[in-house]
Amino acid sequence: SQGCKLVGCGSALPSLQISNDDLAKIVDTSDEWISVRTGIRNRRVITGKDSLITLSAEAASKALQMAGVDPDDLDLVLMCTSTPEDLFGSAPQVQKALGCKTNPLAYDITAACSGFVLGLVSAACHIRGGGFKNVLVIGADTLSRYVDWTDRGTCILFGDAAGAVVVQACDIEDDGLFSFDVNSDGEGGRHLNASIKDNEVDHAVGSNGSVLDFPPKRHANFSCIHMNGKEVFRFAVRCVPQSIESALGKAGLTGSSIDWLLLHQANQRIIDAVATRLEVPPERIISNLANYGNTSAASIPLALDEAVRSGKVKSGHTIATAGFGAGLTWGSAIIRW
Ligand code: ACO
Repeated sequence: SQGCKLVGCGSALPSLQISNDDLAKIVDTSDEWISVRTGIRNRRVITGKDSLITLSAEAASKALQMAGVDPDDLDLVLMCTSTPEDLFGSAPQVQKALGCKTNPLAYDITAACSGFVLGLVSAACHIRGGGFKNVLVIGADTLSRYVDWTDRGTCILFGDAAGAVVVQACDIEDDGLFSFDVNSDGEGGRHLNASIKDNEVDHAVGSNGSVLDFPPKRHANFSCIHMNGKEVFRFAVRCVPQSIESALGKAGLTGSSIDWLLLHQANQRIIDAVATRLEVPPERIISNLANYGNTSAASIPLALDEAVRSGKVKSGHTIATAGFGAGLTWGSAIIRW
């Protein structure tokens, strides 16, 4: 049967950095409150010259370069994002920005902070079952456009970024995507969302079925991010260790036999709690959220890219990774670099 492995990674960040002190000028907060509760000190935010597409294309180009894969040799581009620049998806625009002349399939995966892990799952399925050879998985989000910058409970958490990996078909003996565990809970979705508003279109039809007001006068829009932080915290600390244990079990591994724990970078206290539950020692935790905050679907490939390029993660290392967030969705992947 067919194996698949990660052969390159890359990342990209906007240049504008916003510190906790910068935020304390616009909302009632402090560097101390934010860093003690979350571990976050800085985050990057897009400005006029950056976009989801430019960041994604930059991260993807670096990953392709590391992999030694030409854009024309891609047969699939998976764009994991919840902040597309088009209602119909952004993946084809990234494919265009990369200059692919061979028209590889490109589509979006919408699953918030779990998006990248679900992208890895999809890449593996396409390679194992569909005969695909070179799959680009991009995790990118620009949540700064959906944050309520007057809500101190949420605006301190998020940053913008893009990360990417190339997943390639290989012999089964070289397989580097060992196992997955993936879940959703729509019931819990009320704790974290940015739902559609202007549902007044419903009023266009009267009780007797007659049309009262057509066409609708407004375009639908999404509201800012709404979050019950305590509930999301509890959900993460409860569900993520179970999910990783399940994925580790399928691969015949335990928390003490992995080289690295690389969680979605939401909150240092969540990362530490999950590590403790899995008995992963602190020196095996990958964390960079102090510099970038929660970058949603980008956080795992961004942290992976930094850890690979700094020499921390070496060829042959086993990594347990997990994403969790809005939906609610959560999932784990056990990978070998
Ligand atoms: N600065 C100062 N005070 C604040 C701030 C702030 N930025 N934000 C909230 N407070 C206040 C609150 O108003 C509250 O005051 P009160 O006691 O007078 O009512 C107090 O601090 C405590 O607020 P809580 O919300 O209860 O604080 P908590 O300890 O739960 O920490 C936090 C909040 C950091 C958001 C935490 O709940 C958390 O990290 N949850 C997980 C959130 C998360 O990771 N979300 C993203 C995952 S999914 C995804 O990535 C899309």
